[in-house]
Amino acid sequence: MQIPSWPQAGEREAELLRMVLESPQWGGFHPFVTEFEQSFATYQHAAFGISAFNGTVTLELALTLLGIGPGDEVIVPAISFISTATAVARVGAVPVFVDIEEYSFNIDPERVREAISSRTKALLAVHFGGAMCNVDELEAICRQHSLFFIEDAAHAHGSEWNNRRAGSFGIAGSFSFQNGKVLCSGEGGMLVTSDESFAERARSVANCGRIAGRSFYEHHRLGTNFRLTAFQAAVLLAQFEDLNEQIDTRTANAQFLKSELSDRKEIVWQYKPEAITRNSHYLLLGRLLPGAAVTRDEFHARLGIAGVPCTPFYPHTLYQNPVFQEVACRVMPCPVAEACVRDAFWFPHRMLLADEETISEIAKAIRSAVSKQGSESRLSAPPAVSLR
Ligand SMILES: Cc1ncc(COP(=O)(O)O)c(C=O)c1O
Repeated sequence: MQIPSWPQAGEREAELLRMVLESPQWGGFHPFVTEFEQSFATYQHAAFGISAFNGTVTLELALTLLGIGPGDEVIVPAISFISTATAVARVGAVPVFVDIEEYSFNIDPERVREAISSRTKALLAVHFGGAMCNVDELEAICRQHSLFFIEDAAHAHGSEWNNRRAGSFGIAGSFSFQNGKVLCSGEGGMLVTSDESFAERARSVANCGRIAGRSFYEHHRLGTNFRLTAFQAAVLLAQFEDLNEQIDTRTANAQFLKSELSDRKEIVWQYKPEAITRNSHYLLLGRLLPGAAVTRDEFHARLGIAGVPCTPFYPHTLYQNPVFQEVACRVMPCPVAEACVRDAFWFPHRMLLADEETISEIAKAIRSAVSKQGSESRLSAPPAVSLR
């Protein structure tokens, strides 16, 4: 099957990279870095962008700037990439794991309410797979309890809730440009915010405590160096030119797959409320209902044999990772997250960039993988697939 590879690069990436190579500035002070920060922040409907070398340090930076540390708790979803939780622990605070909604894969606002304690300082919500979480309800809870609302938007480049983009709701939104992301430079990250003071402090801390317009060797804050290189910015500027078209292609192909398979009631695709006006489709997620002819692992194995890239979800919830046997955390009951570990799956965004013929073949392969025929035979697992 002709499944596109990822990342993809063309002449434009090469051209911009050459411009950096031929310039005297390969580091974070090249104008490409500022250009990308401004363009991307505007694209996400935020006023300021502060780039960094990945989307893990941007989370740590946001938490630090909000004064979150020892003695504080931060509410996080039980399902995400590890950085959402470890960023909280690395600034000395306690991550509080909360269950996700049954079919959105996003943090459940009702469960958030139950988890709030006198120590809770912030909610760090993830737009899982690119589908926005219920920002209306989450923001209302944060306002009511005086909590900071931070968006981990690592999956949500271009995603929208009622036409407003990810990262523009909380005090800050954190993006990743890691190799597998829909906008990527191998590694990279950005905080977006519309709070001028927060932006100024973030930029200063991420740049050795410098202040714009002041001497290069004058350091006003206890800063560090999180700067993105000009090479990453060059690649990101080029990739950015294709993002809208790729989101449209993925959206159309995801809709096609779901409508082709709409009679397969044992597959429940990620829930899409009306308010989600755009989804980056970083992942195409689903769950296999109990009673399906095949188990999730058989489904995954059959797809592997057919050449369809599929990941059988995370192997455990965040709090089941060995690190949280050592590191302090609080765990709320998470039956949905634990069920998803057993029955959920995702397809990577590159699959949704396939041509029409391949997408039709994929629909047939998924249909055949969930169907009863042949389900008796135990299939061997396909090679491991990246979890990101
Ligand atoms: C939800 C989420 N948060 C944070 C990160 C961390 O980003 P990075 O890999 O750029 O450090 C990732 C992904 O890689 C992610 O998926």
